[in-house]
Amino acid sequence: MANVIIVGAQWGDEGKGKITDLLSRSADVVVRYQGGVNAGHTVVVGDKTFKLHLIPSGILYPETRCVIASGTVIDPEVLLQELDMLEGLGISAANLFVSETAHVTMPYHRLIDRAEEERRGKYRLGTTGRGIGPTYADKSSRVGVRVLDLMDPEGLQAKLNWIIPYKNVLLEKLYDLPPLDPQPIIQDYLAYAERLRPHVVDTGVLLEQAAHARENILFEGAQGTLLDLDHGTYPYVTSSNPVAGGACIGAGVGPTMIDRVIGVAKAYTTRVGEGPFPTELTDETGRLLGERGAEFGTTTGRPRRCGWFDAVIGRYAVRTNGLDCLAVTKLDVLDELTEIKVCVEYRLGDRTIRDFPSDSQILAHCVPVYKTLPGWRSYTGDCQKLSDLPIRALEYLQFLAKEMSTPIAIVSLGAERGQTIIVEDPIHGPKRALLVDSPVGHPLCP
Ligand code: IMP
Repeated sequence: MANVIIVGAQWGDEGKGKITDLLSRSADVVVRYQGGVNAGHTVVVGDKTFKLHLIPSGILYPETRCVIASGTVIDPEVLLQELDMLEGLGISAANLFVSETAHVTMPYHRLIDRAEEERRGKYRLGTTGRGIGPTYADKSSRVGVRVLDLMDPEGLQAKLNWIIPYKNVLLEKLYDLPPLDPQPIIQDYLAYAERLRPHVVDTGVLLEQAAHARENILFEGAQGTLLDLDHGTYPYVTSSNPVAGGACIGAGVGPTMIDRVIGVAKAYTTRVGEGPFPTELTDETGRLLGERGAEFGTTTGRPRRCGWFDAVIGRYAVRTNGLDCLAVTKLDVLDELTEIKVCVEYRLGDRTIRDFPSDSQILAHCVPVYKTLPGWRSYTGDCQKLSDLPIRALEYLQFLAKEMSTPIAIVSLGAERGQTIIVEDPIHGPKRALLVDSPVGHPLCP
């Protein structure tokens, strides 16, 4: 039995959906532990493309139970649209379980998110506008609506008749928006509640039972390390904890339950929204990466900012999440390049910086120091094993593994399930310590 966390090692959009989908095959339960409909993952199965925001991609496996845990925030309207989409495709959602203590995104959260971005002007964060920050803010302020509340019509009426007038003061006075009428909102959310009711359970008990039955549990993080509220590039972060530690809090399980942590990193870097990005490329190469990598947000359609791989960030992700190994995705996007750069450290004035700075202002002034590697200039999308890769592609991966002192267990070379090289079984293979300490001849082990 192994319980595994999958976490984004950069600014999100690392291709976690595909890796989760791949590992879901050996999982009995897949748990989404934080975030909301700001996330989006695309899974390609044959000629079908699935775009999901909240429901774990494990739902595509009929036997796998999927949990949307307590640490998430749920927009019921979007969740129900996803359920409808799956049903339309003949995929059963009977195995979807929603935590009764997850918080609910309300219409005023979406309005406030967007109005607040506008009010911030040049200080805007570039949020997805899905109401995520305001939902988590209400959770912390203890004025949130939980899934539990939706299940209690009278309680919900009372709660919203109290909260909405209070939100209306904000909407009218601060944001110059019209007030909301509580009644239609209450009616809509009661209708959502009835459709969600069969899926709502105490997911903590479900996970405890799964653990006792020695089942495999996969914890799926949304967003990425640098968007973490506590450990990311604050304030240009999301409002939850995507880092591995967030899995325990979000799912309501103890850290002793976790066996492995797998970090997912693109072979280059992208970022959506505002905030510093040292290796960003605003030139032709950046445009090429965006084009070849189809770098547009799944949720908002916004073009992603693209840049070289940043090993300072990689090392930070290894440290912050305790990564056992890495899955490197989208290596094929680099296929055409003549040379490829990797940032190994930063310069700030006359200082060399190897540890990721906590201060976004400082990060904004950091200049990347690059190691330039030769490109391989050949198609890798059909490589099935490491020995199929051009030697320079292999050397590139070895360089990344060495810079981060972390083995690469999976290499992804395209969106299809089959476009993947499993270097080492990330769940049942040897632990990181073994790989790092013993010269086992692992080709992608530092
Ligand atoms: P929010 O999560 O909508 O509040 O947005 C806060 C920041 O996180 C913005 O920079 C968003 O672009 C970014 N963000 C949120 N979710 C994702 C994601 O799934 N992928 C990449 N960036 C995200």
